Amino acid sequence: MISRETIDEIKNRLDLVDVISDFVSLKRAGQNYKALSPFSNEKTPSFFVVPAKGLFKDFSSGKAGDAITFVMEHEGMSYVEALKYLAKKYGVEIKEDQRTGAPGEDHSERDSLYILMNYAKDYYHQILLGNEEGQSIGLSYFKERGFTPKTIEKFELGYALDSWDAFSGEAVRKGYNQELLEKTGLVVKKEEGRSYDRFRGRVIFPVHNISGKVIAFGARMMGKDKNQPKYINSPETEIYHKSQVLYGLYQAKNTIRQQENCYLVEGYTDVISMHQSDVENVVASSGTALTEDQIKLIRRFTENVTVLFDGDAAGIKAALRGIDLILKGGLNVRVVLLPDGEDPDSYSRKVGTTQFQEYLSSHRQDFISFKAGLYAREAAGDPIRKAESIREIVTSIALIPDPIKRSVYIQETSNQLKVAESVLFTELNKLIIQERRKRDRDQPPVPEEPITVEQIEDKLAPNKFDPEVLVQRQEREAIRLLLNYADQAIAHEEDSAITEKLSAFVLHELEDVEFSNPVYHNIAAQFKEAVLKGESLSSQHFLEQGADPAVRNIVSELITPRYATSEYWHKKYGIYFPGEADILKEMAFTNVLRLKFRVVQRMMEDNLLKIKDAEGKNDQDQLTALLDSHVGLKAAEHELASVLGIVVAR
Ligand code: CTP
Ligand code: MN
Repeated sequence: MISRETIDEIKNRLDLVDVISDFVSLKRAGQNYKALSPFSNEKTPSFFVVPAKGLFKDFSSGKAGDAITFVMEHEGMSYVEALKYLAKKYGVEIKEDQRTGAPGEDHSERDSLYILMNYAKDYYHQILLGNEEGQSIGLSYFKERGFTPKTIEKFELGYALDSWDAFSGEAVRKGYNQELLEKTGLVVKKEEGRSYDRFRGRVIFPVHNISGKVIAFGARMMGKDKNQPKYINSPETEIYHKSQVLYGLYQAKNTIRQQENCYLVEGYTDVISMHQSDVENVVASSGTALTEDQIKLIRRFTENVTVLFDGDAAGIKAALRGIDLILKGGLNVRVVLLPDGEDPDSYSRKVGTTQFQEYLSSHRQDFISFKAGLYAREAAGDPIRKAESIREIVTSIALIPDPIKRSVYIQETSNQLKVAESVLFTELNKLIIQERRKRDRDQPPVPEEPITVEQIEDKLAPNKFDPEVLVQRQEREAIRLLLNYADQAIAHEEDSAITEKLSAFVLHELEDVEFSNPVYHNIAAQFKEAVLKGESLSSQHFLEQGADPAVRNIVSELITPRYATSEYWHKKYGIYFPGEADILKEMAFTNVLRLKFRVVQRMMEDNLLKIKDAEGKNDQDQLTALLDSHVGLKAAEHELASVLGIVVAR
């Protein structure tokens, strides 16, 4: 057991913000800090750090606690592991409590794996620097590749002797047991109980997790034996899951945060050479397409990824597919195409630091326009291929989760390819609808509302995020439904044999919602009265002489039929939109939920302003109360969003 004094000493020395900053990119907010939750995939920051209290609170996952809890939750460590991690970070010597157990006895299995991996890393490193074979083969290989001693230290590079048991023999002498050696994957077990070292006669690249612990190795062969794989990598273990790790992230994370960009390359040596050219915000996918988990990992530090492409044209198209997943993950993607035949490693060494950095900044281009340019050049003068290119590019745009970004890309692509925006939108809508259909294949298809050019402009307006605008847009839709379909019968929620009037349904559902636009409020009030009296109210009533001119104006606008163009769309593009009358129930239900959703979001916005105010005044009690109501609202928002089937985007 770690002694009480040691635990107190760790708690005294640690700095909460410093601890969390190793994993999350915090932004100051008054006395406190906030960030995107590292525990979920959110778009609006709801992760708060309150240094005055030594606490963090994550509203999206509900996790909360102190620095130790944070490390446990974030790194999946036990209490003891977290304490040891923090002790190391703050230079606290760990004193074991003799009364409750002998030193070393409380290691969990994971702990033991980390310890052995760390031992192996030191062992391979020592062989590289101090052993004759290590020096003459491993070290001279690294030197030949231009790796400096500083680099060799920074990446803790090593060498495995060309022997079946040099490493395991040494490890066993040091007291590590056979079973553990096999569990780390460093030793391979054969039948009949015999075993041998996995890595032999290769240079060693340790792979670190985000907090700097070695969890795996990559081992590169010497020379060019065609019958051997160039790299042998550690297998999956309890502490190593390949799909959740990025090579170099540990060494890169601080710079990624500072530069707000992460370079993505293929290999170990690309990462290392770029560091030698003072480009430190770089990670490697290890030769495969990025996984969803790896994308999430990057998102903890930045929203921007720049992919470096080797300059051989053949590989580019294949690589483009991999990038689609990054777009889907909501990251902004840029690309840099290296000169023909060069990879980041060779090119950075060839031209040197200054020129390499200049090349990166001057050749960086947005991924969508890069792709558009690539296809446009190919399709020049060939209409059929041009159509294919358009589909190809729109396919990528359709993956971007943020509709605002999508529309901006449509505008840019339209300019670049000299294709009308409306054509691109049509294609985009088709894809989005297809994708949603695929997603809820088991459910009956829900009619989709297409995006019109007006709606896009609307979205790009300066107040597009104003919660009030969003609320009033739904109020307007509620009024429009009432004016056009108040007396139409729709099936009752619980029993479809019973029907009720649309006006009764909508107004009942919106009982607790106060319309904020005075004109809509006025109209809704008149409908409410009619419903209570059991009377009908014709929209003509609002247009009669003597009616409020503001009301008349709006009513006349709202009773003009929508989708006037649908027949045109149907003829021209073969897209069919069901008539509104067919889907009234659906529309009324959706509108009611959307209005409530927007009202909740408006309340959250008000609440956030109050939070800022309380932060400014450093009123901790008020702050706690407000953060609590934020949780409640967030939960309501999520629930409504999930019923609506929309992603909470902001
Ligand atoms: N890789 C692998 N196994 C292989 C080949 C490649 O795991 N047999 C992974 C490694 O992570 C490697 C990456 O794919 O770093 C990129 O491959 P490559 O460009 O061939 O390797 P480099 O690391 O660039 O090595 P070098 O420059 O020495 O060829
Ligand atoms: Mn290479």
